[in-house]
Amino acid sequence: MLPSQPLLHAGVFALTVLQALASDTFIAAVYEHAVILPDPTDKPVSPDDALALMNKNMDVLEGAIKEAAQQGAHIIVTPEDGIYGWQFTRESIYPYLEDIPAPVVNWIPCTDPSRFGPAPVQERLSCMARNNSIYVVANIGDKKPCNSSDPGCPSDGRYQYNTDVVFDPEGKLVARYHKYNLFTTETQFNYPKEPEAVTFETPFGKFGIFTCFDILFHEPAVVLVSKMQVDTVLFPTAWMNVLPFLTAVEFHSAWAMGMRVNLLAANTHKTSLAMTGSGIYAPDGARTYSYNMKTEDGHLLIAELDAHPCLSPASPPAVNWSSYALSVKRLSQDDHDFTGIIFHDQFTFTELTKPGGNLTVCQKDLCCHLSYKMAGKRDDEVYVLGAFDGLHVVEGQYYLQICTLLKCKSTDLDTCGQPVETAQTEFEMFSLSGTFGTNYVFPEVLYSGVQLAPGEFKVLNDGRLINKTKPTKPVVTVTLFGRWYENDHLKQDPQPATFL
Ligand SMILES: *[C@@H]1O[C@H](CO)[C@@H](O)[C@H](O)[C@H]1NC(C)=O
Ligand SMILES: *[C@@H]1O[C@H](CO)[C@@H](O)[C@H](O)[C@H]1NC(C)=O
Ligand SMILES: *[C@@H]1O[C@H](CO)[C@@H](O)[C@H](O)[C@H]1NC(C)=O
Ligand SMILES: *[C@@H]1O[C@H](CO)[C@@H](O)[C@H](O)[C@H]1NC(C)=O
Ligand SMILES: *[C@@H]1O[C@H](CO)[C@@H](O)[C@H](O)[C@H]1NC(C)=O
Repeated sequence: MLPSQPLLHAGVFALTVLQALASDTFIAAVYEHAVILPDPTDKPVSPDDALALMNKNMDVLEGAIKEAAQQGAHIIVTPEDGIYGWQFTRESIYPYLEDIPAPVVNWIPCTDPSRFGPAPVQERLSCMARNNSIYVVANIGDKKPCNSSDPGCPSDGRYQYNTDVVFDPEGKLVARYHKYNLFTTETQFNYPKEPEAVTFETPFGKFGIFTCFDILFHEPAVVLVSKMQVDTVLFPTAWMNVLPFLTAVEFHSAWAMGMRVNLLAANTHKTSLAMTGSGIYAPDGARTYSYNMKTEDGHLLIAELDAHPCLSPASPPAVNWSSYALSVKRLSQDDHDFTGIIFHDQFTFTELTKPGGNLTVCQKDLCCHLSYKMAGKRDDEVYVLGAFDGLHVVEGQYYLQICTLLKCKSTDLDTCGQPVETAQTEFEMFSLSGTFGTNYVFPEVLYSGVQLAPGEFKVLNDGRLINKTKPTKPVVTVTLFGRWYENDHLKQDPQPATFL
């Protein structure tokens, strides 16, 4: 059946409006929020007390949203657990949950708050979006009653989900995402039965959304980019930093570069749990980021991004991650190789004994090649080239292939792989590559003091990670962090968790 004339006209009209509104760039904001936590107790509080605590957090978020809107931001992302924290049992989180409908219901909670029962949190978030004409992204809890007609129904008669919501500038609910890759510490929540690939269109590109630990897995994170072709990913997180490879700003910026999308990462701020590090990341590097272990205050970041980074002339080329590494022979012998542990994984290392040179280190199927030149070789700092090819099994099971140049904690080689934050050795140049079996490789460069190096490095289409200028600060690590999703054994994590 052909569409009737009015329908056809409506379609053409909608398209024209979208085209007229479409823009090449937009302004993004993320807010790192120092969450006001409830008093630690396993006893459920009253719904009024729960709402009072959530309102305290939303008072702070509202200040950030207003400020972002005044500075012209089109969208703002707030952190995972940003409205009530993370210390709960199934029962004690219940008073904080609301029934969150699917966006197809076409609902503006600000103008019709009681349509689906009490929803004061959704109402307030919707009004903040509407009053300030800005997309608002937040993380709250969804509850869905169930009963014995559903064999998966928990004994307390409801599913509880860690949930991201997005309200558009009219206050309409346009996205709802139930976190798929939960940690076992998140016993207050249920795993959704299937991963959801949640996207929505805006005049400044197609958006996708997922939460925290999701970023290490294939579903839904990689699916959103490779299959749904989103331009920008929204990423509420409560991320505890783990050096040398999994510090928030380092890994999240690397994911944006490796996946060639924008990533808006909003972390919670809690230095006692090493939670800090938010940023606005484009495929060619961080537009802005913050890392603050010194004070306990929140922080608003604002930056301009390309609406369609893949179409931008600045967009990096598609990369064959193994092309260069497969084309060269071993650059050095393996006589001085030794092993060491990085975040529970056993790496093969070789030391950078000279001020410059060419080195190769291999483990299983992965060979890593490094060409480097230091401005000067210091007696008090030791660097190694390392390779790891295998299943990581602590705090999540996932298959990794990693090539890394990194500073050891001390001149004792036994300390290589332990977390290091500072360095003094200046490098003139580096070029790192590896014989990766995966297309998913995330390039990381971390300078002394947990600083990123935007604009100072790039990846060539043959898979070499090289300096683009002379590195302006001492190097802590240069890493190609590869994920080989097909080799993952288990989908879920049986271990205690570090990231939320
Ligand atoms: C939105 O604006 C209305 C009217 O100006 C005001 O009553 C309401 O408190 C505002 N709500 C929020 C969440 O900003
Ligand atoms: C069980 O739940 C289903 C769906 O939620 C509902 O349609 C049905 O009426 C419920 N049955 C009982 C006995 O409550
Ligand atoms: C990448 O390059 C290698 C070596 O040149 C080649 O064997 C391989 O087929 C390439 N992979 C892809 C996906 O093009
Ligand atoms: C490293 O290899 C490059 C060629 O790839 C060569 O020009 C350079 O001299 C080598 N450096 C050392 C110290 O062997
Ligand atoms: C890397 O840095 C050196 C200077 O230290 C510079 O000569 C070289 O051109 C840089 N590499 C690239 C690809 O720009």
